[in-house]
Amino acid sequence: MPSFRVPRGTRDLLPDEAARFARFAEVARGLTDRYGYRPIETPIFEQAAVFERGIGEVTDVVEKELFRIAPRTEESEAWALRPEPTAGIVRAYVQHGMQTWPQPVRLATIGPMFRYDRPQAGRYRQFWQFDVEAIGDPGPAVDAEIIELGLRFYAEVGIKGVEVLVNSIGDPACRPAYLATLVAFYQGHVAELPPTERDRLERNPLRLLDSKDPAMAALNAMAPRTVDHLCEACAAHFDSLRRHLDALGVPYRIEPGLVRGLDYYTRTAIEFYVAGREGQQQALGGGGRYDGLVELLGGRPTPGIGFGLGLDRVALVLDEQSVAEPAGHDAPDAVVVSADPSDTVSRLRIATELRAAGLRARADLGHRKLGRQLEAASRDGAHFAVILGDELGEGQVGLRDLEAGTQRLVPVADLARELKRGASQHKHG
Ligand code: HAM
Repeated sequence: MPSFRVPRGTRDLLPDEAARFARFAEVARGLTDRYGYRPIETPIFEQAAVFERGIGEVTDVVEKELFRIAPRTEESEAWALRPEPTAGIVRAYVQHGMQTWPQPVRLATIGPMFRYDRPQAGRYRQFWQFDVEAIGDPGPAVDAEIIELGLRFYAEVGIKGVEVLVNSIGDPACRPAYLATLVAFYQGHVAELPPTERDRLERNPLRLLDSKDPAMAALNAMAPRTVDHLCEACAAHFDSLRRHLDALGVPYRIEPGLVRGLDYYTRTAIEFYVAGREGQQQALGGGGRYDGLVELLGGRPTPGIGFGLGLDRVALVLDEQSVAEPAGHDAPDAVVVSADPSDTVSRLRIATELRAAGLRARADLGHRKLGRQLEAASRDGAHFAVILGDELGEGQVGLRDLEAGTQRLVPVADLARELKRGASQHKHG
């Protein structure tokens, strides 16, 4: 037999890990509910053009990392798995006429993303993001609101020491002049550029600043900085963002080298790190303003901003920081066992009634002796065992408190009430 494995760069979330991700989702939903972000779900695959246009043809995400789906027939469309949710959400905003809704439209989603990247610690081919988008507000107040929301997520999930880096990367008014300065700078060092970067210099010079090639680090440290080339409007926007962050007491660091890896960004760019862990693979989350994206995907010019927080990296940092997390699994209130190993009908029926009454109840459905069933119930950490014996004929069952070691007869009709009382005493006791 072949031995089957998960695809490279993906992993199974076994129950403990899946419960942990469910807790992240709960924290995220609690926050988005308080901040007024409504849930949205878009498909996991889209027309590839949504990503090519939205994220940009000359980006790592589209050039190298897009999971393209092989068409099944000649006439089928070119699809790709989503490498990120923003382009799909903006596609939905345009398609469903959300510009007629009260603006901004605040949306949030949590789900898997796919990038065909070289797998390593914290970098997977399927990974999870918590994403929020506020579409239809030019900021900068909403930019500060979103940054603060991101930091609060990390704090509530239990990570210590998260720092936010911010930058402004300008807009179509100031970017052309900046790009000309940048191109002139790189042309002065063209001999030092690796071949892929030389090729990109022609097609998308801003991407060189975001290069993952270590050979670029020293050069990029000397490159002209966006913040020194902002037009008046962008500079005022950035100043005001900082004032809003100061007013909220949000600590942040201005990082002039931060340009982000996707083409849709304008003005505000943000990345979240655990302090001292800056670098390509270590970003816990990132985002920014995308004032041209709605128009690029066929809508009316509409500003927007959002972030995506990588939940796999959140899990890694929680492990590194040895954060005590709530267990994702509670012991059953009761396990239903029987003196007659063959009577699975009664056990299943009683357990079903208890579950319908809202209790965590498991029926032991094995054909083993009563002693074995009780041992298994204790191992499960169950508070009570419900023991079905001869008294069942008179409508009574044995109720054993596995913790106290006591046992008494209880009418079946009272069983759920008794168990609920026991469970609540247990919780408060
Ligand atoms: P991004 O910076 O490409 O932005 O990704 C956001 C976060 O997703 C990263 O900071 C990282 O935590 C996580 N991430 C990215 N790639 C991987 C990977 N291969 N394995 C594990 N985690 C990963 C975006 O995706 C934008 N859509 C964010 C945004 C929303 N901008 C505006 N709105």
